Amino acid sequence: MREREKFGSRLGFILISAGCAIGLGNVWRFPWITGQYGGAAFVLIYLLFLLILGLPIMVMEFAVGRASQLSAARSFHALEPRGTKWHLYGYGAMLGNYMLMAFYTTVGGWMLAYFYKMVKGEFVNVTPAYIGDSFNQMLGNPLYMGFWMVVTVLLCFAVCSRGLRNGVEKINKVMMTCLLVLILVLVVRSVTLPGAAEGLAFYLKPDFSKLYEAEGGLFESIFAAMGQAFFTLSLGIGALAIFGSYIDQDRSLTGEAISITLLDTFVALMSGLIIFPACSSFGVDAGQGPALIFVTLPNIFNQMAGGRFWGALFFLFMAFAAFSTIIAVFENIISFGMDLWGWSRKKTVVFNLFFVLLISLPCVLGFNVWSGFSVPHIGGVQDLEDFIVSNNLLPLGSLVYLLFCTSRYGWGWDNFLREADAGDGLKFPKGLRIYVTYVLPAIVLFIFAMGYIQKFSA
Ligand code: PHE
Repeated sequence: MREREKFGSRLGFILISAGCAIGLGNVWRFPWITGQYGGAAFVLIYLLFLLILGLPIMVMEFAVGRASQLSAARSFHALEPRGTKWHLYGYGAMLGNYMLMAFYTTVGGWMLAYFYKMVKGEFVNVTPAYIGDSFNQMLGNPLYMGFWMVVTVLLCFAVCSRGLRNGVEKINKVMMTCLLVLILVLVVRSVTLPGAAEGLAFYLKPDFSKLYEAEGGLFESIFAAMGQAFFTLSLGIGALAIFGSYIDQDRSLTGEAISITLLDTFVALMSGLIIFPACSSFGVDAGQGPALIFVTLPNIFNQMAGGRFWGALFFLFMAFAAFSTIIAVFENIISFGMDLWGWSRKKTVVFNLFFVLLISLPCVLGFNVWSGFSVPHIGGVQDLEDFIVSNNLLPLGSLVYLLFCTSRYGWGWDNFLREADAGDGLKFPKGLRIYVTYVLPAIVLFIFAMGYIQKFSA
């Protein structure tokens, strides 16, 4: 077995895990989902889920990764009791990683395309209506979108082929820091725009009746909040577990999980603070879905001194945030091939390069050539892929990790706790045993079932 690569530093580990967590989920998906499900009340539920569902499950994923020193494809084999079938979920995790990439690479490509548009100065002195049209025009052009998707995939595989420390870890540190700083600048600009107050109220003043406004009612909204909580933290498909396999037992895992969750939440909340004031200021509909940030942000840059420059930087950093997530998931995908079939790194990179390009096509085509395709209650190709991942594979996969770590038919509570607590730092609270063993799985299953019933019976 090959010697496992290790991170250069603790900060490297935290930043790369945060890099995997922080991505389109925070800056693209969080604002549009929040806009669709009614603002502040939805945000509160989402925050609650991060704390009571996300955080404990993140510790579990890291523990499984660190104890097995393997990716999700093989980690269950290594830890499960003899004769059990937990390892079958390895396939679920693989499916989740691939399916996520199937639409994520396209949105990553949108970020690059917008970087280019900003550099070109396409949005200098234009109206909000022009900015909206420009996005729709992009969606209508499969070649243009396909081009940026391909560039995204190529760049990310190139980084992965350079290995963990030189490629992923180094680039990531710089980019994440730049992104955090720029986000703060943009928050200041956005909340001081004329007409910002209305958007701020939508985002910050909870109106619980809004949760009932979704087609499927209250539980559709709660289901969506749960999906977003798992999505933003990258839970359920072993995406974080793999980084657990790249660290030693110097630090206990609970403290690390808290840092990562805080960073991730900070970025999401800040992007809301950028987007919603801008929506009310420029008359953009906050509930319009995936286009949201692409039709609001260029307006803000238009109102800023040096907006073209800041806008270009923003989309560049954002592309990198997306890339750090894509690269993390590619790392996973690559390790599947190496762990399962014993392929060399090179062979699995080449195979996956083509495979990921192939599975990314339907999402691109879904906006134009296949725009007639639509699933009732869900939507087009991208909506469908997102639904399968965020509302199904992530919560159910999280459930698998949860049961694996708490059940004596799995890896078991004692093993989990020993691994999670190994090293200096915060320990996992022992008193939570009953909660994580019985209550937490019940919550996830209940919301899942009710969400389905309401969403599809509406
Ligand atoms: N957390 C990532 C984001 O917010 C998305 C992701 C989900 C990555 C699941 C890996 C696994 O963009």
